[in-house]
Amino acid sequence: MTLPATPRPGRENATPRPGHDPERLPGGRVPVAPARRRYLMCRPTYFAVEYTINPWMDPAAPVDAALAVRQWETLRRTYLELGHTVEEIEPLPGLPDMVFAANGATVVDGRALAVQFRDPERADEAPAYAAWLDRAGFEVSEAKHVNEGEGDILVVGDLLLAGTGFRTSQAAHGEVQELFGRPVITLRLVDPRFYHLDTALCVLDDRTVAYLPEAFSPGSRAVLRQLFPDAVLATAADAEVLGLNAVSDGRHVVLPAQATGLSAALRDRGYDTIGIDLSELRKAGGGPKCCTLVLREREADK
Ligand code: ARG
Repeated sequence: MTLPATPRPGRENATPRPGHDPERLPGGRVPVAPARRRYLMCRPTYFAVEYTINPWMDPAAPVDAALAVRQWETLRRTYLELGHTVEEIEPLPGLPDMVFAANGATVVDGRALAVQFRDPERADEAPAYAAWLDRAGFEVSEAKHVNEGEGDILVVGDLLLAGTGFRTSQAAHGEVQELFGRPVITLRLVDPRFYHLDTALCVLDDRTVAYLPEAFSPGSRAVLRQLFPDAVLATAADAEVLGLNAVSDGRHVVLPAQATGLSAALRDRGYDTIGIDLSELRKAGGGPKCCTLVLREREADK
């Protein structure tokens, strides 16, 4: 039985459609208040593609460094306009991938797990991020195993999703669970183009994700189906423009402008999408999420 909708101010004349609950967004989603986030970003002052550690990187292909900075500034400004706080870490010369702040750490409940990169080219970024977090008052733990931070470790509600297969080692997943005291779900990545979890899956809110099923092993796909029966399934076309490398505050989803199919699917579910062109950073295999580390404080500090 459908109960009549309670009239709200300004909506007195709205005729409720049968079976339509005006409190719900399309797709049956209950609207979530956007969370105010604190992000850490690193200006791409020294950005370049100088080596190849993923299939996107071709040092012979031209990169417009000035355009990369302008595109990154648009991303930063977008976060500020959405009401988020953006902190910046000083970029270091000789570390062209340092712009990808998501790989700088995993920060949950005011605690940070430092990273240990798989590739020596990025190794010196780890202590720089750890030092910044320490100065900012986070309790930083050293990493015993290879983990590339929020590139592979994503928070969804009370769970942590952890990718492995290319960068972060499975041994690190145990370390993450022990440190943060939250259940860690191991997900195996199988397509080298989607080498970090955040290129294959995007957390939309505390209950929902979007992902590309083909990027995961059959067992991991089954786990994702079980945990997120309402997930948004992305297409290969969306993932190939790094569309899943998106940042959601629960309502607004900032994603690559080229991911038009995914943007439409998210709008159908009631999210507000904001497309950003990060064409130059994509030449290194990065998108909006890669440029963004979420600084999660202890609940009590908020
Ligand atoms: N060139 C960088 C690498 O291969 C890109 C990192 C992208 N970051 C991310 N969180 N997916 O390590």
